[in-house]
Parts: sequence; C-alpha cells; structure tokens
Amino acid sequence: MTVALKVHFFLSLLFAALSTALPFSNNDAVATIWTFPNETWVENLAVRQNGAVLCTSISRAAIYQVDPFSHVAATVHQFDILDGVLGIAEIENDIFVAVTATIDLATNMAKNGSAKIWRVDMCAWSLGAPNPISLISNLPEVGLPDGVTPLPTDPGVVLVADADKGLIWRVSTTTGAHTIAISDPAFKYTSPLVPIGVNGLKILDDELYFTNLAANLIARIPITANGSASGSVQKVSTETLLPDDFALAGDGTIYAAGYNTLWRVMPDGTTDALVGGPNSTAVQGITSAQFGRTREDGGVLYISTTGGLLLAPAGARVHGGQLLAVNVGLFG
Ligand SMILES: *[C@@H]1O[C@H](CO)[C@@H](O)[C@H](O)[C@H]1NC(C)=O
Ligand SMILES: *[C@@H]1O[C@H](CO)[C@@H](O)[C@H](O)[C@H]1NC(C)=O
Ligand SMILES: *[C@@H]1O[C@H](CO)[C@@H](O)[C@H](O)[C@H]1NC(C)=O
Ligand SMILES: *[C@@H]1O[C@H](CO)[C@@H](O)[C@H](O)[C@H]1NC(C)=O
Repeated sequence: MTVALKVHFFLSLLFAALSTALPFSNNDAVATIWTFPNETWVENLAVRQNGAVLCTSISRAAIYQVDPFSHVAATVHQFDILDGVLGIAEIENDIFVAVTATIDLATNMAKNGSAKIWRVDMCAWSLGAPNPISLISNLPEVGLPDGVTPLPTDPGVVLVADADKGLIWRVSTTTGAHTIAISDPAFKYTSPLVPIGVNGLKILDDELYFTNLAANLIARIPITANGSASGSVQKVSTETLLPDDFALAGDGTIYAAGYNTLWRVMPDGTTDALVGGPNSTAVQGITSAQFGRTREDGGVLYISTTGGLLLAPAGARVHGGQLLAVNVGLFG
C-alpha cells in the first residue's frame, strides 16, 4: 500500500465511523428520525449549525427540536394554539424567524388578520432556559404566510410568501414593517378548490426560486439586493404535483415536497419522483426538505411530513407527522 492509499483507506474508515453516528445505515434510502404524536402536522424545517433540526407544526402551534444523531426531541416553544407555525428560516447564526397564522385545517385558509412574525433565538437556548421566542410584529395585511427566506445581503429583511393573496412580502426582521416586494400572476392560486399559491421560497445567485402549489409550478424570478423583481418569471418545472417547500442545492438542483412524493428537478428542468408517489406511503404527507449542515450529514436531506392528514394515499394509515432522512447520494 502506498502512503496515499493508506491515507485514503484511513479516511474511508474514519468516514465510515462518522457515518455510523447517523441514525441510519448507509444503505437506507429513507429512514425515520422521529415520529411525533398523531395529528401533529409538521410543516417546515430549519437546520441549526450544530445539526439539530427545528420542526414547525401548524396543528400543534409549536416549534420542536429533533437531534437526528441522538434521536432526542424537545419542545422549543408552545405557542397559543391559534398561532399555527408555518415557515422558519435562519437570519443570523442560530437566530431564526418563523411565521404563524390561525389556519382552518379543513379548508387550508388562514383567518384574516391572524398572521404574525416571531424571532427565535436559539443561541442561548437549552431545555428549561428562558423562552427564546419573541413576537416581532403582527402582519395584518398578510393572508396566509408560508415560506420565508432572508435576503442574502440583508439579513434584516426576509421575503415571505403569501399563499392566499399570491404575493411576496418584504418584511423587516427587527420591526415587522412590511411592503409588497413582488406581485406576479405566477404566485396566484389557480383554483378555489386548492387555495394555496406561492409557497416555498429560496434564493440562489440573485434568483428567487418558488413553488406554486395549486398551479403545479416551480419557477424562478431574478431579484435585486432588496428583493424586488429585476426580470420576469421563468418556469423551471410544471411536472411536480402540488409542490410545497423545497431544498435547493448549490448547483440549482431542486428537491421539492409534494403529494406524497419527493420530486427532484435538475437544473435543466428534468423532473423525476425520487421517492414515493401520490399513492405511496414512503414519504406520506411530505411538506418540506432541508439538507443537513454538519460534516457527517451534509448529503442527507431531512424531510417533514403531516403523517397523512391531507391527501393520504388510498388505504394508508394516518399516523403522526415525522422527520425523515433521505440519503440522496444513493440515487443516481
Ligand atoms: C390519527 O388521526 C387521524 C385523523 O384524526 C385518524 O383518522 C387516525 O385513525 C389516527 N391514527 C391513529 C394511529 O390513531
Ligand atoms: C382583512 O384584514 C385587513 C386588515 O386588518 C382588512 O383591511 C381587510 O378588510 C380584511 N378583509 C376581509 C375580507 O375581511
Ligand atoms: C429596491 O432596489 C431597486 C434598485 O435595485 C430600487 O429601484 C427600489 O426602489 C428598491 N426598493 C425598495 C423598497 O427599497
Ligand atoms: C392512485 O390510486 C387511485 C385509486 O386507487 C387511482 O385512481 C389513481 O390513478 C392512482 N394515482 C396514481 C398516480 O397512481
């Protein structure tokens, strides 16, 4: 064995040892990290720099933390039950914002004037420590606040998708002051039967990527540093069904949650169902996806689910919402 090979062999062993720290074997394509109690609709995820995953719940009006390495879950904050939690995003190191609204789960409609934005400071959080949550502001003009993403050059401002009004709001993370950042027909829902338009939001290279759930649309629009549009909407894929939130890899590959399916959309628009399908229970009730952030789980896609509270596959058993892990490296 040459020195280089020995080093490579040693690194392989080391990597294998680190990998076993993950809560699943390297050959598992999809693993269950945590199952919440029944009727816990997990809507959105944010991964902390230490690897722990923050999970928001609409139905339980709570933010939970799950450590995917130790399989330990904890409640970060229990909101008033009327404040169902939707999107969450990191704005500074270990400081997040989350949006809430009073949602009727039978119709998916938000109560008018119920939207709020909160600051979630995880820096000093530990079990039993002082409450890390503070209200930034009510958002009375926002209909159904959904996806949240910070402006890359101005973490004092987030863009918030309004799935009901079909708008993107620009919201100050210090005062909650909000104005319409972008209005475009591509954000509107297309049928009153599915009153959810623009939903997930992510920014990559001066382009805002978004999903429109009712329109089966994934698209992008160029934006300026302050989140205004600087060009027109370009379709990326119209083949994903009911796309909800998504993870965006650095090369532009999209991993979108939608209709019991994890969809993969390549930068050229090629779309396939990576895991599951409308009638599959593999990722039943999938709502969002986020990549791990540590050296060990950077290639792992964490997925949140409702457990099947909405559009459960025919004959499927509805169970508690889950945090799942998908080993995307195993897919060609
Ligand atoms: C979970 O809740 C759903 C909806 O209320 C119900 O239909 C289902 O039977 C419950 N499942 C279990 C395992 O209790
Ligand atoms: C919703 O609330 C806003 C702000 O409070 C108000 O201006 C608007 O008239 C309300 N719309 C409906 C349909 O009630
Ligand atoms: C955003 O920036 C553009 C120029 O890049 C400017 O025209 C526009 O007024 C700005 N909007 C806000 C709300 O700051
Ligand atoms: C799902 O199952 C239903 C009823 O069994 C069937 O009508 C439908 O075509 C199936 N959908 C897909 C995408 O396979």
